[in-house]
Amino acid sequence: MSSTAPYTVRRSRQQMVRDVRKGLTDSPKRLSSKYFYDERGSQLFEQITDLPEYYLTRAERALLQRVVTGLIDELAPCTLVELGAGSATKTRIILDAMIAKGAGVSYAPIDVSRDFLESAAAILQLQYPNVEITPVVSDITEAFTLAATTPPVLFAFLGSTIGNFPREPAVVLLSHVAKLMEPGDAFLLGADLRKDANVLHAAYNDSQGVTAAFNLNLLDRLNRELGANFPLDQFEHRAFYSMEHHRIEMHLVAREPMVVTIPEIGQVNFYSGETIRTELSYKYDRATLEGILADSGMKLEKWIPDEGNVFALAVARVAR
Ligand code: SAH
Ligand code: AVI
Repeated sequence: MSSTAPYTVRRSRQQMVRDVRKGLTDSPKRLSSKYFYDERGSQLFEQITDLPEYYLTRAERALLQRVVTGLIDELAPCTLVELGAGSATKTRIILDAMIAKGAGVSYAPIDVSRDFLESAAAILQLQYPNVEITPVVSDITEAFTLAATTPPVLFAFLGSTIGNFPREPAVVLLSHVAKLMEPGDAFLLGADLRKDANVLHAAYNDSQGVTAAFNLNLLDRLNRELGANFPLDQFEHRAFYSMEHHRIEMHLVAREPMVVTIPEIGQVNFYSGETIRTELSYKYDRATLEGILADSGMKLEKWIPDEGNVFALAVARVAR
């Protein structure tokens, strides 16, 4: 950890208090999904990716494996910058293809989950001793800076994490990426596609209850880090697909009226059945993503859906 870490940890805690205060005093109540990813939340997300109902990770991995060699031949990147990298499991497919091409390779994973990112980067460094790995702890919704990178740079945003941002914040986020891109660079985006609502519903309501645990961990995190007293057994996981908005919504529902205390924020009242919206997960078609990319200053160059139209990869270039 660098010497600036205690300062940035303190700053991100202050930001968390501000966000939680705003989200829980708003009506309807909401919390940002970025707060899912403490160490425990990141581990639970890893478990989600292995669930039989959660098809996204398997679909994206299969698609990447099928097209990666052609993509890397064409884009010829020397640097991979990955937004919301998490455990960087699928990233290995891209790194392997870059290494096979024989160029010097560097990798900058960016994530808000500090401990998880640093341990994932350390493991990766052992497995890829010749790759220069520079983890960047940053909130990708804010403009971020990178250390000097060797061009061409491939910016990757996998897992359909773009779907966790409504259109406007998604455009702001991708505009930051576009500003960092030079004409020879490329952007690779993984996106979950619109499909049968039952398949989507099952993916976010798994039979083992891992998604419910992932959702509830958010309140547990507020208890642990902010000294709140959310009674976890009095909240229940709810996830549903909105056909109108083409998105999954995840909520935590209060089973009964209650007053929760968060020392730095005060008392928060809940009526029976009141919900906290914790996540949106948009599902896409080509036109919608092409529009988001265009508004962000990028041009869609390649649209690569898998055979079943389950998941797609999009390749874009900066439009200037
Ligand atoms: N890319 C991986 C992980 C996806 S999970 C995959 O495809 O499986 C989403 C990741 O994005 C988590 O690691 C989480 O910590 C990170 N993340 C979520 N919101 C973020 C934000 N605002 N800034 C930076 N990282 C964020
Ligand atoms: C990280 N993100 C794309 C996941 C999703 O599918 O929206 C997070 C998740 N939420 C519930 N299950 C998985």
